[in-house]
Amino acid sequence: MFMKQSFAIIGCGKVGRILGKHLAEAGYRPMGFSSRRITSARQAAEFVGAPDRCFEKIWEAAIDADIVFITTPDDSIQESCRTISKHNGFKENAVVFHCSGALASTELASAKSCKGMSGVMIGSIHPLQSFASEQTGKSGNPFDNIMMGVEGDSGAVEKAHQIAKDLGAQPFTITTDGKILYHAAAVVASNYLVTLMDLSIKLMAASGVLQSEAFDILKPLIQGTLVNIDSTGIPEALTGPIARADVGIVKKHVQAIRGLPDKTADEMARYYCMSGMETIQVARAKGTLSEDAAKHLFKILKSE
Ligand SMILES: NC(=O)c1ccc[n+]([C@@H]2O[C@H](COP(=O)([O-])OP(=O)(O)OC[C@H]3O[C@@H](n4cnc5c(N)ncnc54)[C@H](OP(=O)(O)O)[C@@H]3O)[C@@H](O)[C@H]2O)c1
Repeated sequence: MFMKQSFAIIGCGKVGRILGKHLAEAGYRPMGFSSRRITSARQAAEFVGAPDRCFEKIWEAAIDADIVFITTPDDSIQESCRTISKHNGFKENAVVFHCSGALASTELASAKSCKGMSGVMIGSIHPLQSFASEQTGKSGNPFDNIMMGVEGDSGAVEKAHQIAKDLGAQPFTITTDGKILYHAAAVVASNYLVTLMDLSIKLMAASGVLQSEAFDILKPLIQGTLVNIDSTGIPEALTGPIARADVGIVKKHVQAIRGLPDKTADEMARYYCMSGMETIQVARAKGTLSEDAAKHLFKILKSE
């Protein structure tokens, strides 16, 4: 296979290891692995099939790489980059990336002032996927068809697009200033969906369904809703009592949740009501909820 540019991984955790493995499989040359603990760097280098490429010092791992990925936790990205820069550890014309969703490429600004180096470009390349454990992607390619948000210097963005495609992912460019809201959107879509499902399963169990069966029972409904959002979009995909203006049913829901013999009943009711108030806006946009019915519903949900 034609060998592509070389890369280094700084921070050998869940993302660093998997990224390294799939970059190598896509033809990029593993040049250096370094982490807070040498054992993590060694394990990652072995995992990627380059056991002789692990280094104690992060700048030693980065110095010969065309592309450097700083995959430490977000709080350590800026400091790790500064440390490498201070030791002149970036190669001339290197491209430096981090993989954080929340932080912008500007966290890597120190790489540009790396003494004696010129032409270093910085960017961020964020896999919009959840890598829950180091087992993720042990079989199969976890980058396959996922989206990757990229931003940074134009040369780095161009490189990131190529890397994402080589990994099997679909790149898209975001603005540097918009990163924090982009990440908030991802948190709502992924993390808060988990919390929402947790509430739904608890209510299903409270209704008498076995908790162990609750998710399987809800699954076709969840999948159908996703299909509807995909095919008709929002607000058209909204159905249910708020879209239908069934004020009495919503009131009964709230009373039933509040009355549960569960110490979190108040929190569950509050969550239901907050989501309901947002749903009123969607129903209004759909055009199926009159202004009067919306006000009535809002009053019920607000008072809880
Ligand atoms: N996990 C996800 O689902 C996910 C998804 C998208 C993006 N990301 C982003 O990917 C990046 C890495 O996340 P992760 O989930 O892979 O984190 P992680 O599993 O905690 O791995 C981070 C690794 O960095 C090493 N490290 C910590 N501080 C360091 C330092 N000062 N210098 C060098 N290495 C250091 C850790 O040390 P040891 O050497 O002690 O092992 C650890 O192995 C983050 O920017 C995160 O926002 C994560």
